[in-house]
Amino acid sequence: PKPERSEEDTVAYCVEDGIAWVAFNRPEKRNCMSPKLNRRMKAVLEELEFRDDVRVLVLTGEGEAWTAGMDLKEYFRETEALGLGAIRKSQRESYGWFERLRWYEKPTIAMINGWCFGGGYGPLFGCDIAIASEDAQFGLSEINWGILPGGGASKVAQELMPFRKAMYHAMMGENLSGKQAEEQGLVTEAVPAEKLRERVLEIANVLKKKDSHALRATKWTMRRMVDMTYDNGLEYQIRAQEALHSFGGAAARKEATRQFLDEKSFKPGLETFDV
Ligand code: ACO
Repeated sequence: PKPERSEEDTVAYCVEDGIAWVAFNRPEKRNCMSPKLNRRMKAVLEELEFRDDVRVLVLTGEGEAWTAGMDLKEYFRETEALGLGAIRKSQRESYGWFERLRWYEKPTIAMINGWCFGGGYGPLFGCDIAIASEDAQFGLSEINWGILPGGGASKVAQELMPFRKAMYHAMMGENLSGKQAEEQGLVTEAVPAEKLRERVLEIANVLKKKDSHALRATKWTMRRMVDMTYDNGLEYQIRAQEALHSFGGAAARKEATRQFLDEKSFKPGLETFDV
């Protein structure tokens, strides 16, 4: 058997032109998530989060998979053999980075190049925008090996998909293509495999030009409001906008308004103002 990948090597990343490209890097294991990978991913995400040269983060997978979900050997069998303490530790490591991603300070794009199973729905939901290859495959395969879709996966399906589709998806263990995942709300968009990187790059380049503080306030507001009443949502929006002012939001808005009303150099309905 081949030697085990080192922990450091389970995630690959580089920063290029304002975009951090982060990849699950266990292609020989279809990028399934082991405790090592979970720990490494958390460390990489944290390292990139506040770097000035990172404006957008893309999460993708090396090889044929985005991620084949949790590692049945290292995350489940070997951890369970060590008892409850080890189980809780590895759960916290994985849920921890999924959570970090949901509330990431920068905009995030999932670039789903292939298999996406079970536990992979956590980071899928964690990313703000999800672009899949049309021939990617999405599955809640848990039912096929006798467990329920845990680790957030069933919640993700229920949040993102119409209820009847989510229930069928969770119970049947049949995979959805990228195209079907788009139709059922699991991803933002599906594109032919050869256009995947180009489309992600196009979106990342648009996001790069937006005011980063306004983007962060927007994505957090969208996520927070999921379980709020209309009135609480409205109140949250007022507070979030006021908080944004202490990050330069008031000045940015004043300048954008000036460019539109006085200088007539841009139209907010059609483009982004010049920062
Ligand atoms: N856990 C552990 N090992 C895995 C996983 C996984 N989730 N997925 C793939 N691997 C390993 C295989 O055991 C194999 O290892 P080996 O080379 O040492 O034998 C290697 O990765 C390659 O996998 P193959 O099955 O040979 O690849 P193939 O391309 O034929 O199939 C597929 C890909 C369909 C993704 C298949 O590997 C598979 O069904 N994986 C499991 C998917 C799954 O159900 N994940 C769990 C979801 S539930 C949850 O996450 C809680």
